[in-house]
Amino acid sequence: MNHMDGRSFSAAQDFLLEAKKFWTTQMYPLLRQQDQAMAATGAGPVHARMQQSDLYPFFAWMERHLQRMKYAGRYGLAPWHDTQRAELEQHLSAISIDIVPGFALPPYYRSFDVHQHPGGLMGDSLAGFVYERGARSTTPLDKHFDLHHRFTNLIAQWMQPQRILDLGCGFGKSTRPFAQTFAQAQLTATDLSMPCLKLARHLDAKEHIGHVTYLQADACASGLPGARHDLVTSTMLLHELPLPHLRELFAQAYHLLEPGGWTVHLDFLPQVQPGADEFTHFIHAGHSVRNNEPYMQSLAAFDLKGHLQGLGFSDISIEPFAENDQALQADYPFWRFPWTVVKARKPL
Ligand SMILES: C[S@@+](CC[C@H](N)C(=O)[O-])C[C@H]1O[C@@H](n2cnc3c(N)ncnc32)[C@H](O)[C@@H]1O
Repeated sequence: MNHMDGRSFSAAQDFLLEAKKFWTTQMYPLLRQQDQAMAATGAGPVHARMQQSDLYPFFAWMERHLQRMKYAGRYGLAPWHDTQRAELEQHLSAISIDIVPGFALPPYYRSFDVHQHPGGLMGDSLAGFVYERGARSTTPLDKHFDLHHRFTNLIAQWMQPQRILDLGCGFGKSTRPFAQTFAQAQLTATDLSMPCLKLARHLDAKEHIGHVTYLQADACASGLPGARHDLVTSTMLLHELPLPHLRELFAQAYHLLEPGGWTVHLDFLPQVQPGADEFTHFIHAGHSVRNNEPYMQSLAAFDLKGHLQGLGFSDISIEPFAENDQALQADYPFWRFPWTVVKARKPL
């Protein structure tokens, strides 16, 4: 029987977060040092060097199993939220979200437990709550809140969008900074996950945000009328899409934008990071496998610029993004996601 209470849940989750920080700030720099020393002695390519490493198996085990324990362990997010099921379901019971005509869930979406979330984001009515709590420590050294605001602030440097579409909005964490920064804008936010969309609306109400329209829609077959938006954006969506869907997402963005509008995406691309080398790529590919993110590697290998050019976009840029003030220094020592901003314009 599980005797979890709030205190034991918090203590266990705090322990896991501290272990993840140790992995990020101690194990990763040590592994990199070890790899550089091996490379200097000509010990073959990075995967061969890591085969010889005594540290790499522990590094890999920690990455996989800290995340597993965070979500599904005895004191995990899924069992903890289950203990409060009735109360949490009550918060969402009166919320109804529109579904776009012709909506169909793409089959890939429920075929694996994305980032080790049991059942994924559609497997349970509480999936949004579980994901919201989990996302608070996605980047263990930085507040995730800062990341989303930094992205919105970056966009505000060159445009003041009036009609914004946030694709793959989850529980609204990427949407709310847009709603706050561009308070006069019309905002639409879409996702496949109904539990996340309902939570997004619930959290908006708590923050007195009332001008976001949430819709259940596939970002790659949106069912929305074209040429209605001056900004089509996403945060952490691209790496969740199989290649044919990724291609389609940008075709959709082109269709949905007004002439002169921008499409801007925050996601992960190791190759554009300062100082990126074969170790960077190896660690990113390993993360994809260990964290159940099967499409991260096809995104990293995809010719995004060529695809955007082929669709007719102009002003294309693909640049690293700093989630904190030090992150893009070439000697930044800690593990980090290879945050990248992909930006392109539909010509006038
Ligand atoms: C990593 S989460 C990011 C959520 C949010 N943008 C944020 O920054 O917190 C990715 C989201 O994309 C959604 N998603 C995945 N495939 C999608 C698709 N084809 N169409 C719409 N949403 C999708 C998932 O349900 C999930 O909520």
